[in-house]
Amino acid sequence: MKKIIPSLLSADFWCLKDQLLELRQLGVDTLHVDVMDGNFVPNISLGVPIVESLSKHSDFILDVHLMIANPEQYVMAFKKAGADILTVHIEATNHIHRLMQQIRETGCKAGVSLNPGTPVEFIKPILHLADVVLVMSVNPGFGGQQFLSETLEKIATLQNWKQAFNYNYVVEVDGGINVETAKSVLDAGAEWLVSGSGVFKGDISHNIAQLNGILLK
Ligand code: DX5
Ligand code: ZN
Repeated sequence: MKKIIPSLLSADFWCLKDQLLELRQLGVDTLHVDVMDGNFVPNISLGVPIVESLSKHSDFILDVHLMIANPEQYVMAFKKAGADILTVHIEATNHIHRLMQQIRETGCKAGVSLNPGTPVEFIKPILHLADVVLVMSVNPGFGGQQFLSETLEKIATLQNWKQAFNYNYVVEVDGGINVETAKSVLDAGAEWLVSGSGVFKGDISHNIAQLNGILLK
């Protein structure tokens, strides 16, 4: 099912609860949690405590995007905190195959992500282990960046492979997605659209309504 997944990175943390209740009322069922370590990416963001709190107090599906070095070391901590989907970067590990297995063994859904500069062919050998493939349409690290249209080809390739080889993964896209760019991403074959500033900047209800309108077209 196609859907918009708000990225918490752009939320107003002063009134996070109100914003999340508003999203839930609007029918949003999944939240994207960006975890950054100042090492794999040049920024520091959210971590285990927020996942724990969201899991305890809400019924959102928690889509945790690990932009960290040594992701192997943190899989269990995020699982215990309540992550439903754990997505790791192929660029952050020497052993993506083992890491995907490790995530699946915890019972979390396993996602693999690739940076704009990484060829899509690199993840081909582990696609049978992926519940989600997260195509980065900006260089990870910051919200509010401009969508990179050269990533559309990767989205199309992943959707083609999914159909041609009967894979089970969902094609998710992250970065620069808003009312201007959502249509091109959907046309290319994306199913889940992560959006941070596109959801939280301005009026949340209005933004969600507009984005949902594009999904339904
Ligand atoms: C970027 C993060 C994104 C970010 C997207 O490194 O992975 O999830 O929050 O923000 P926008 O939608 O504003 O580009
Ligand atoms: Zn993200």
